[in-house]
Amino acid sequence: MSQSPTDRQLLHQANSLFADYLEHCADPEQPVVPYLSPEAVAQKFDLQIPEQGVGYDQFFSDIETYLNYAVRTRHPQFFNQLWAGYATPSLIGQMVSDVTNTSMYTYEMAPVATRIELAVIRKMCDIAGYPEGDGIFTPGGSTANMNALLVARNTLFPDYLTKGQAALPKPLRLYVSDQAHYSFDRAANTLGIGTDNVVAVATDADGKMLPDALARAIAADIEAGYQPFFVCATQGTTVLGAFDPIEPIHAIAKQYNLWLHIDAAWGGVVQLHPEYRHLMADAHLGDSMTWNPHKTMGMLLPCSVLLTKQSGQLLSSCSGGNTEYIFHDYDNKAWDLGPKSLQCGRRVEALKLWLTWRLYGDAGYRDRVAEVFRLAEYAEAKVQAHPRLQQLAPRAFWNLCFQYVPEGGKADVANNQLNFAIRERMIREGKSMVNYSYLKDGRFIFRLILANPEIGTAAVDRFFDDLLEVGESFTRELAPLAEQVA
Ligand SMILES: Cc1ncc(COP(=O)(O)O)c(C=O)c1O
Repeated sequence: MSQSPTDRQLLHQANSLFADYLEHCADPEQPVVPYLSPEAVAQKFDLQIPEQGVGYDQFFSDIETYLNYAVRTRHPQFFNQLWAGYATPSLIGQMVSDVTNTSMYTYEMAPVATRIELAVIRKMCDIAGYPEGDGIFTPGGSTANMNALLVARNTLFPDYLTKGQAALPKPLRLYVSDQAHYSFDRAANTLGIGTDNVVAVATDADGKMLPDALARAIAADIEAGYQPFFVCATQGTTVLGAFDPIEPIHAIAKQYNLWLHIDAAWGGVVQLHPEYRHLMADAHLGDSMTWNPHKTMGMLLPCSVLLTKQSGQLLSSCSGGNTEYIFHDYDNKAWDLGPKSLQCGRRVEALKLWLTWRLYGDAGYRDRVAEVFRLAEYAEAKVQAHPRLQQLAPRAFWNLCFQYVPEGGKADVANNQLNFAIRERMIREGKSMVNYSYLKDGRFIFRLILANPEIGTAAVDRFFDDLLEVGESFTRELAPLAEQVA
């Protein structure tokens, strides 16, 4: 029987594959995704789990195949999601978390990680303007938003924790803008509030919540016998990147004693730069905040936090259950983070952020934020300068929404199919990955996301060159058809 490789040998081999992968990701000549249909995936991969193990040669070959066909989210032409690329120190930080594989429930199990998580939360609370604040790392912004709803509900109505809906004579109601993230519906479902009780408040043409519409909705709901309790001001909406006006929303929330949550999962990073902080100038007025460093601070997924303005609220809202078997009475019990989390086993996510933030410093992050704004401004100028491209929403942040308009046409729903086809072809050819959505009036928009400070303007140029080339080629292909129809 041949000798098993040592851990050192295995890690050496794995690391060399990872380094190759990172080089491929950095090479603009490589496709951003070597597209495979679901059928082709099953042909490329033996997906079966066999009775007898396949051995390390096959193990590494499986890894290589996987790496070959993974979407290269670190590629300079990846603009598809509200995150792109990651800082290499974050990868190393995550590897340190993984190699030590512990759980954040008790100080006993994660002494250094506990102090690190608290230090990072302290720093983020200070930035958010929550000097008395507290917080917890969650497995994503959606969970942070759900956790915020839970803290709001159980803080405003403490009996709810034990009695559930029976604690209240009226159904709860919460308010988000009609551009807010869908996680609030999921959370209302999960928490038994019900999706019908998530009120989507109208927005203006820029995608910002209309405070008057909010005030009217709350007043009408009270009249109709509901119990309003929660308002969310999104900072950086998912499609348009809009910032809801916090100050007037706060005034309304306080008039009715509602909890004000700030969903800054996407936009929170502006707080790191004095020039852009004004976008979230009134964020300190919120009672809680979601902030996703995995979107904009170069962190690997997941890296999200929920911050609360007052400490103690997470603990009083989340704790419960017979926990003597895990949260023992011991000297360091006060340091256990598990009682204020909804999770039992919880990965160490703060470490990668702490390591990277220390490495770059505040100054390094300021530079990264400024660079992404520079790229977004550069991309916007390109759209505005080109006759085939039309910007369809003002740019507040790192989202740029536009349409490809064929010669002689205007930005219209009539171009939806063409724009959709351009996107599909760009992906199938591995050129660039960019996402899309629709405006309220039904018009298709490319939603170009600039989030990776490491790509440079050349990647932006390449994106538009590719998009325009694909657009022109479709126009050429479709021209004879149009003539035939005519
Ligand atoms: C405004 C906003 N909030 C919350 C979320 C959810 O974050 P996550 O994907 O980490 O669950 C997103 C995701 O894009 C978002 O855009």
